[in-house]
Parts: sequence; C-alpha cells; structure tokens
Amino acid sequence: MHMKWTQDCRLEIPEIDSQHRLLFAIANELVDIENPLEQQQEFKYMIDHLRNYVEDHFKTEDKFMEDAKYPEREEHLNMHNDIIAEINSTLKSCEDLRTLKESLQSLMSKWIKDHICEEDKRFSKWYHQNRQPEVNDPV
Ligand SMILES: [Fe+2]
Repeated sequence: MHMKWTQDCRLEIPEIDSQHRLLFAIANELVDIENPLEQQQEFKYMIDHLRNYVEDHFKTEDKFMEDAKYPEREEHLNMHNDIIAEINSTLKSCEDLRTLKESLQSLMSKWIKDHICEEDKRFSKWYHQNRQPEVNDPV
C-alpha cells in the first residue's frame, strides 16, 4: 500500500518538507515493484537510491539542528543513526528479495509515522519558537 503524505507531517521548513515528500515517493516506488525477482537490477538501484537519499536527508536535518542550536540534537542524531543501522541490517539479513521488499516497506512506513510525525515535528515546534529570525524573513 502506498504511503500518503498528510499535512500533519509537515514541519513548515520547506527544505526538509520537500525532502520528506521525496522520501515518501521513493518508498512508494519500492511498493510499486511487484516482483523484485524479475526486476532485480531496478530494485537494487532503488534500494541504493533510498539509502543514499536517507543519509543525505539526515545531513540536511542535522545542519538545521546545528545552526539552530537545537538542545536535543544529540538524541535526534542517535535516532538517525539507529535508522541507518536498521536499514543496513535489513539489507544484510534478508536473503530473499521479496522479504527484503516487505521489510523495507514496513521499516519506511514505521519510520515515517514515528520519526517524521513525532520526533521531526518536535524539532520543528522548537525551531519555530526558538530560532533567531533572519533579516530577510517575512514578518
Ligand atoms: Fe529526523
């Protein structure tokens, strides 16, 4: 089943929101591969793409947290590291591509629900209340 982007996952930080949307799209591409055995090359390419994109995305989030001096940055970084570790161990442990597809799907949907909609959202609330506005920000 496709994951649907909903307004309550929005952080109101355009760069991060657009990356989150793209993560949904990449995860949905995985869902669209009906038979990973027949589309092995494409499937593997998509997994690489997903993993690289997740890593880049975490760097973006971290940059925002560092610049804003987010007090819970360390804890948040640990959660990101846990997610990367979970992706890597899923990739290592699943021999069969169909199981791998299912495991990645459930990992992504759980992550999106729990991490983006709770932890990232918590950062965004803090960010909008505490960060120093920039000179060019609209009033
Ligand atoms: Fe995050």
